[in-house]
Amino acid sequence: MIELGLNIDHIATLREARYRGWKRGLPPEPNVLQAAVLAEGAGAAQITVHLREDRRHIQDADVRELRKVLRVPLNLEMAATPAMSAYALRLKPAEVCLVPENRQEVTTEGGLDVAGDLPRLRKVARQLHHAGIKVSAFIDPEIEQVDAAHAAGAQVVELHTGAYANATSTAARNRELRRQGRAAAHAGALGLQVNAGHGLHYINVREYIEDVPHLHTLNIGHAIIARAILVGLDRAVAEMLALLRAPESSLLAD
Ligand code: PXP
Repeated sequence: MIELGLNIDHIATLREARYRGWKRGLPPEPNVLQAAVLAEGAGAAQITVHLREDRRHIQDADVRELRKVLRVPLNLEMAATPAMSAYALRLKPAEVCLVPENRQEVTTEGGLDVAGDLPRLRKVARQLHHAGIKVSAFIDPEIEQVDAAHAAGAQVVELHTGAYANATSTAARNRELRRQGRAAAHAGALGLQVNAGHGLHYINVREYIEDVPHLHTLNIGHAIIARAILVGLDRAVAEMLALLRAPESSLLAD
């Protein structure tokens, strides 16, 4: 059974659009913690937040509250900087996903180049792992990066699905699915947990899970939060879970 990790960064994006730096009066809306608890109740198996260096959406206080209140694992996405490593070692979330971070980007654009920065990332992963934190590396679906994540001591790889989601032709999409499938099979054979995410939505997710082996958790944010504005977060989560769980035959009948 494939699990759903809900990325709730964009609940905070909406709050920050109005309440950035707000210190007075009623708690600003929408409430990130309430959203996470609602999603947990609707079946999300993990809550993911990206604490960015520029604090453009999720704030430190959000992470602290989530860490205290959530019953499902908190997956903290972060850059592998000394400041963020120290932060994670104090917070001790269930899982840390190491991601590349670039101030100019709208969202995480590519995977982490673990192969190109192996000694440093191995040190970061080792420190986090020794503190009891599961370590994930967000990588492009390339064998070299899977091998490097394994060598760095990560327990999980999260395959970047952006190129699949953004492919504009069937041929390109199929090429990306094959790339994803090969990387996932290789990671599974190495004993790594295989997660995936970025740009997955209600229309492309089924094809993805049918073609890619060993999937454990999909981390999905924007599509579910966007749908939640129209139908409510619990229903948006439930609809995605139904897609992840539906037997193939019932979808073919649609
Ligand atoms: N996984 C990682 C590592 C990400 O950085 C993001 C985007 O913040 C996601 C998953 C979710 O992507 P999306 O919001 O496109 O579903």
